[in-house]
Amino acid sequence: MIVDSVLTNAKAYISKELVDCSLAVDNGKIFKIGKEANMPKASSKLDLKNLLVLPGLIDVHAHLRDEGKAYKEDFTSGTAAAAAGGVTTILDMPNNEPVTMSAEALRNRMEKAEKKVLVNVGFYSEFPKNVKEIANIVKEGALGFKLFMAEQIGGLNIEDDNAILEAFKIVSKLKASVAVHAEDRTMLKEAEQKLKRASRNDIEAFLEAHSENVEAQAVKRILNIITQTNTHVHFCHMSTQNGLEAVISGKKSGLSVTCETTPHHLLLSTEDFGRAGTLALTMPPIRQKRHVSALWDAIKNGWVDIIASDHAPHTLEEKKAKNIWNVKVGIPNLEIMLPLLLTEVKRGRLSIGDITTLMVENPARLFKLEGKGFLKEGNDADLTVIDLNSKYKIDASEFHSKAKYSPFDRQIVEGKPVKTLVNGKLVMDNGEIVSKTGSGKVIRRK
Ligand code: DOR
Ligand code: ZN
Ligand code: ZN
Repeated sequence: MIVDSVLTNAKAYISKELVDCSLAVDNGKIFKIGKEANMPKASSKLDLKNLLVLPGLIDVHAHLRDEGKAYKEDFTSGTAAAAAGGVTTILDMPNNEPVTMSAEALRNRMEKAEKKVLVNVGFYSEFPKNVKEIANIVKEGALGFKLFMAEQIGGLNIEDDNAILEAFKIVSKLKASVAVHAEDRTMLKEAEQKLKRASRNDIEAFLEAHSENVEAQAVKRILNIITQTNTHVHFCHMSTQNGLEAVISGKKSGLSVTCETTPHHLLLSTEDFGRAGTLALTMPPIRQKRHVSALWDAIKNGWVDIIASDHAPHTLEEKKAKNIWNVKVGIPNLEIMLPLLLTEVKRGRLSIGDITTLMVENPARLFKLEGKGFLKEGNDADLTVIDLNSKYKIDASEFHSKAKYSPFDRQIVEGKPVKTLVNGKLVMDNGEIVSKTGSGKVIRRK
């Protein structure tokens, strides 16, 4: 038998250890892992020169836009950014135009993505107005639902706890998950109106509106709801001490709760606004240092399940609106998330094992991504190849994303994804996209 390719001289992360090995890849899957001498014949060979090989990174939180918001990002530019950042699978958020909240909208979105994606993409749906549609959305292949609590985006009335409970019960029966943006709309809007009436138009006002308790209150509300159903709830982008404490109390009481945080909440603080201005404006916002410390403590103690990018691209004009309340919130992170975190490995704050747990294994397990998350025979050949010694300066003007700015611009990072393989195909090589669109797959839940 002749397989598609053999990758030699890999230092691969297998069963929590770094193993010197070769990998044979065939038909998009890992065919064999072992010594070079035991590899089958192959159509092509790739010498990995002792570079680190991780199972492909899975980003469970990104806004790929496209359709009505393609001017900010489209499936090709967003997945090119992912490949450049060593990310082989993305879960796309539903606040699109049209909002992904029906089986039909999801089907259209998947069809469009199929032809354009360079890495694998799965989709969240917002909640539909009619809860009967939930089953159709799951049947269509959604990987999970999103509940955006800061503002009404989906069809489900976010002020109505009973309606949320009813929807969660259905989701739980279908064994799907709910990702929650935890910021309490009522508290947030009240604070915002008050600040607007006082003609406040500064970053400080934005931070006051999106207070710590706005996050904690939303978490508590959801925890209270899920005492009556065993729905898996995944809290997105946790950013505050109180919010985290609420999540941890939910975990301790045995609720089916997980959480994520992001590179910007871990690595930026309010002190960075002076330098980065509104480019660093996001929701929930970056916080004072005591919150950043709380996040790192929670990572150390195993309370954080996932690190995700929350890649949220906008145009530069949208980021620089004169009025703070009109600035579009979000940070494009896909291509620098891994280098930023590898730099923390160099600094001793994380290990390669932590990176793999938080950005590969837990995402695969919690979102039930079959064939992903581990390097083993039979699994998908999604691979992130890393040069741990490459030190360079982030240059946002070279991003593959349409959003060519970053609050991390010009920062020195150490550790770089140098090759990304998706379903056995080399998609990124030394920063260049070397594969045609369509090398990624749309992941549908079975
Ligand atoms: O900063 C954010 N940007 N927070 C969100 O919740 C939405 C996101 C976006 O879509 O731009
Ligand atoms: Zn969010
Ligand atoms: Zn988001």
